[in-house]
This record gives sequence, C-alpha cells and structure tokens, in this order.
Amino acid sequence: MRFRGFALIGLSLAMLVSCAPKKETGRTATMKKQSFGKTAAGVDVDLYTLANGNGVEVAITTYGGIVVSLKTPDRAGLSSDIVLGFDSLDGYLKGHPYFGALIGRYGNRIAKGRFTLNGVEYKLAVNNGENHLHGGIQGFDKVVWKARDVSTPEAASLELTYLSKDGEEGYPGNLSVTVTYTLTAKNELKIDYLATTDKDTVVNLTNHSYFNLAGQGQGDILGHEVTINAGRFLPVDAGLIPTGERKAVGGTPFDFNRPMTIGARIQQDDEQLKRGKGYDHCYILNGSGGALTPAARVHEPKSGRVMEVLTTEPALQLYTGNFLDGTLTGKGGKVYQFRYGFCMETQHYPDSPNQPDFPSVVLKPGAKYQTTTVYRFSAEAAR
Ligand code: BGC
Repeated sequence: MRFRGFALIGLSLAMLVSCAPKKETGRTATMKKQSFGKTAAGVDVDLYTLANGNGVEVAITTYGGIVVSLKTPDRAGLSSDIVLGFDSLDGYLKGHPYFGALIGRYGNRIAKGRFTLNGVEYKLAVNNGENHLHGGIQGFDKVVWKARDVSTPEAASLELTYLSKDGEEGYPGNLSVTVTYTLTAKNELKIDYLATTDKDTVVNLTNHSYFNLAGQGQGDILGHEVTINAGRFLPVDAGLIPTGERKAVGGTPFDFNRPMTIGARIQQDDEQLKRGKGYDHCYILNGSGGALTPAARVHEPKSGRVMEVLTTEPALQLYTGNFLDGTLTGKGGKVYQFRYGFCMETQHYPDSPNQPDFPSVVLKPGAKYQTTTVYRFSAEAAR
C-alpha cells in the first residue's frame, strides 16, 4: 500500500512536470561558438553553430564565411548533413573548389582577368585558364571574417564583416562587406549581403555551397529533380565566359521550367553541355527586379528533401560538380566523386564588367550593394 501511495505521488508529480508550460526562454533559436583552429599565419578561426529548434542546424566558420555543415530533416524527420565540406579547418586550408564559401569580390569569371572602369584598366589574377575566377588567388573564401552574434528572439543570426583594401586582388576601392547568415524558424537559411566602397568598383557576391539533398557523400546528384524559374540562359565559350547571347531554354537540355532530374539530359550531345562538362551555366531569372523572387526548387526523391531558392539577384549559376573527381575526401571520410554535389549560386551575370549589355555590377561611393538569397528547406511525402 505504502509503495502504491508513493508511486501515485510520483506519477502525479511527473504529470505536473510534463503538463507544466515549458519554461519560457524567449527563443528556441540557439548559437554556439567554438574554436576551429588557426590559419597558417596563426590567426584564430571560429566555428558558429546555429540551430532553430526545428531540427535544422548550420555550422559556419569565420574562415571564408564557409558553411561547414547544414543539417535538415528528411521526410521521416531524420536530419542529415546536406552540404559537402571538411571536418576540420585543415581540409579547407589545403585547398578545395570553394566548398560552402563566400565568394568575392566577383563571383564567377572575368575574361582574361581584365576590365576597364572610368577609362582605367584593372588587372586581376588569372587563376582559371586565362580567366579570373571567384575573386582571385586570395578571394573572400580564404580570408578570416570578423563575427558577431546578432540573433533576435525569432532567429539565430551571424554577422560576418570584412574590409577588402583598395587594390586587393587588383580591384579598386576599399570595399566594406557585411554578410549576415540567419537561420529562421521557417527552416530557411537567409543570406544578406551588403557592401559599400570609397571608389568606383565592381562587386558580385555569392555563396558556393555544394548540396546533396540525400546527404553529403551519398552518391551523385543526378536523381535530384530541379525546377529553375528562367526562360533564358547564357551560353559560354570554351573558357566558360558568356558569349553575350541570352538563349531561350525552350527545346534545349537547359529547360528546367518543369521539374526534371539533373541527369535526364546531362549526357546529351549538346555543345554547351560539353563545354561545361555538364551544367555550369548562368540562368537569367524571370521577373527578377530586385524583389525576393522564387528562383529554383530542388527535390530529392529518396529522402523527400526539398530546397527552394529565392533571391533578389537577376541570375543563378547551376553547377553540377563536374570538376569533382574523387581526389577530395570530406566529412566522415566521404570521397567526393564526379557530380556528388551541385551549386546554385545566385549572382549577376559572369563577366559583366566586360559586357556593357549585361546588368551593371558597378558600385559607387555613397551607394549600397544589397542583395538577399534564401535557401528554404522542407520534406515531401513519398509520391
Ligand atoms: C564554376 C565552375 C567551377 C566551380 C568551382 C563554379 O562556380 O562555375 O566552373 O569549376 O565554381 O571552382
């Protein structure tokens, strides 16, 4: 009897505790900071982990502003890491094809590493054949950013800042850059880019995450179903510089207006696919006029994971990991083979500084470069 009495009291206590309203902490979003090591020059590098309380978690390092891991739930609610990368800073320091990194000052290629602005010719590093790629030898992907926790009660937010000095990598003007990563309660990773300059310059910032919605290292991405809200794309020459043509996607393997797997047409006998070794092309987004607009949707049928991309940018580079070749071993010992990840880099058109017909990428003193891209995650039931 006595035991029964105690048991009853215990049970009622347990019920009281479980029924009591959850302690109001003010927010479910959290941010954790830890050391990620030091650069070769001895600069401290940190890793920030943002969580939203809904099973989405993103880890970002101050080295290159790199998204090191991004965990999202599949249709069964199981979270997996869906971006390629390395377990430690060392992997990134050894060199890699821009896994997860912030790209600047100019995402994508500038022909022959040259452009003329206000009658002055600027010479940039030539680091991709005869062209300039992703900001040069030491682009924004290889610098250490200053970090600040700017979270609100609703969302975990990490602000990264970097001052790119006048002449850095050949670009004019002191460029002051702020990139804010926010993990929202709606399972969105929102990236706000802001830059100002003290001299006329060119800017085109993006993020270079390689996604595999089945989980990083879990095979190639050819089965992912992609929709891109674009009626035209930019054909490229042999060095992957846009020819200037804005080609309609209709009737070509570049048409993703209706969901299509990446692999469905990638092997077609098409000159542009051959030049890119697959998709490595810039899409001109429909209706992009500075407002946040749906740009793309990706669905991975095995896991059910869905990624939507929204952006204020006029274009999106679809890159299907055509230069991955199994020489890099990433997180958890996973070997990154051919087409094990894809990128959707929101941006202005490649080589705009040399192509006056393309939307301008010139930033002047007193003006603000301001863009936003959102990667929104969810999962779909099996069809
Ligand atoms: C480019 C590719 C390049 C890759 C990694 C992408 O943004 O379009 O051509 O190989 O970045 O460097």
